[in-house]
Amino acid sequence: MVYAENADTFPHIVRGPLHFRTKPSKSIGMDSKALRHTLGNFATGVCVITVPDPDHVDGHVLGMTANSFSSISLDPPLVQWCIDNKAHRYAVYAEAPRFGINILSGAQGELSRRFARHNAHIVPEEKLVREDNPLRLRDVVGYLACETYDTRTLGDHLVIIGRVTDFDADPGQSGLTFFRGRYGHIGTDT
Ligand SMILES: Cc1cc2nc3c(=O)[nH]c(=O)nc-3n(C[C@H](O)[C@H](O)[C@H](O)COP(=O)(O)O)c2cc1C
Repeated sequence: MVYAENADTFPHIVRGPLHFRTKPSKSIGMDSKALRHTLGNFATGVCVITVPDPDHVDGHVLGMTANSFSSISLDPPLVQWCIDNKAHRYAVYAEAPRFGINILSGAQGELSRRFARHNAHIVPEEKLVREDNPLRLRDVVGYLACETYDTRTLGDHLVIIGRVTDFDADPGQSGLTFFRGRYGHIGTDT
């Protein structure tokens, strides 16, 4: 990461054998609950990251709610999200060669709650995903199809970087937001 090149400016970053790594929060005396609380003051959108379910035949998909998503680069087109090392679904997401990023609309708060639960898997009969693309949820504000480009463990999360292979957006809908632990929506009324 670029900002890690100057370790004097960023003393919480230390040089590891192969790359920069962060010190565990305890070693710099941080209260991680208070840190989490402070980070929650950054308003985000909400995504559901979809991957094929490796335990089932085609058409079965796993979804996970995430708000760590952000863009990285336009050329090449790269985006990222992070998964908690302790997530039950960790191995599936860490090893998936491709994944979908579904940006939820203001009307999709219930989907966000559902996919924040254990083993939230989608069966084809639900008709929750589009027929032309099983990784794409219906009625989302935006969708990005990604190939896994790189992964890197940093602290207690795995950063998953995707190369965007397809995308589109529906400007007619509001977006779901997450701020201080609460859902809201922004943009066009739904
Ligand atoms: C609004 C919201 C955003 C979330 N963002 C992330 C995230 O970016 N990364 C992550 O690992 N978990 C995130 N979670 C938690 C996951 O959705 C999931 O509940 C958790 O990782 C447990 O997964 P497991 O059932 O596989 O153990 C978020 C949950 C909510 C409600």
